[in-house]
Amino acid sequence: MTRIEQARAILAANDRGGYTVPTDRLYPFQWNWDSAFVAMGWATFDGARAWREIERLLEGQWEDGLVPQIVFHAPSDDYFPGPEVWGIKRSPPTSGITQPPVLASAVRFVLERLGEADEARAAAIYPKLVLNHGWWDAARDPGHTGLVATLHPWETGMDNSPAWDAALERVPTQTTTPIQRRDTGHVDATFRPRGIEYQRFIHLVDIFREAGWKPERMLAVSPFKVADVATNAILLRAERDLLALAERFGSAVERAAVKERIARKQTALAGLWHEPLGAYLSRDLIAGEAIPVRTSAGFLPLFAGLHGKADVLATRLQDWHARDIALVPSTDPDEPRFEPQRYWRGPVWSVVNWMIAEGLREAGAADASALVLADTRRLVGDAGFSEYFDSTSRAGIGGGTFSWTAAIDLLLAEGTAA
Ligand code: GLC
Repeated sequence: MTRIEQARAILAANDRGGYTVPTDRLYPFQWNWDSAFVAMGWATFDGARAWREIERLLEGQWEDGLVPQIVFHAPSDDYFPGPEVWGIKRSPPTSGITQPPVLASAVRFVLERLGEADEARAAAIYPKLVLNHGWWDAARDPGHTGLVATLHPWETGMDNSPAWDAALERVPTQTTTPIQRRDTGHVDATFRPRGIEYQRFIHLVDIFREAGWKPERMLAVSPFKVADVATNAILLRAERDLLALAERFGSAVERAAVKERIARKQTALAGLWHEPLGAYLSRDLIAGEAIPVRTSAGFLPLFAGLHGKADVLATRLQDWHARDIALVPSTDPDEPRFEPQRYWRGPVWSVVNWMIAEGLREAGAADASALVLADTRRLVGDAGFSEYFDSTSRAGIGGGTFSWTAAIDLLLAEGTAA
């Protein structure tokens, strides 16, 4: 099999009937941001299937606009916490938190790629994106600060990032739900989040369930509340892509609302630049201060269209490359908390690389963009379609046949990202 055939075969093998699981066993349901990237991957060879991925994810959307982190289309014993822990009586059942909103960007990507013939499918999806972006604004930034709040590390998609360590300390470790981890039965525990982090993750689920999953209650009671630089950058990018869709499918009123949000978010995101550390940093919204830990999330404002710091950021990547660090480590290798093998504390993730490379390219930093893409291809070429990669030894870690890694590889095989 050629490499392209292998990547397509992974998506096909992880297809469970119109939605793609991130990988077999370890993640047996549909995940929000995974599916957005996976839809782009499907679009390289099966347009109808790309739309289906997005439509199936939106089957889980709530009336208030929330697009959940997980849609539990079919039961499975391989994952904890399953639908009974979330206690959300919907059909299909879902979790009650979200994930980085790549979706509108994926819809625009798929539409532009597939062209006019698919306008009707995109037109049917468009109002759901409008509803979702309205949810972000109302549920997570009711004060119109320009930055949305994230209430659970799982919502950032970067579960155990060292950026969350201090904020997570405020979360009690006791849980009403008995913890029955399944992930460490599938992959080596040393490469996964630690037990104590897991207790805090479940504590948050317990208190949100008790809050009845009501956005204003969750915002009020959560002991974990951060403005994640990645989520905010991805959302700003998604707003720009929604605006492009609104030019085709929306009204003048909708366009005006999106433009207003874009203006507000641009200013607020730019304000996350921290001159002493030379990086964009997340904010702890409870402490009211910057979180002084540099991670790969800090490169994503480039993807949001903020190009003012492109030179500094590109130079940093080039410096790491010269030190033989695989790009882009999820935590800055000069941070004391850098762990090159432990999940979001140092390993490389293809989807983050793709967004960073897109941002660098759009900012005119073509060389750094090419370096990031070359490393992304090389890691997969050497180690396979792993969940993530050790940024120092370049070994593949975690689940072995990962959908989003395959999807990004398909995009890069075609050179669509640069
Ligand atoms: C892990 C990752 C998250 C991803 C999910 C499914 O929880 O941290 O980003 O969406 O797995 O692949």
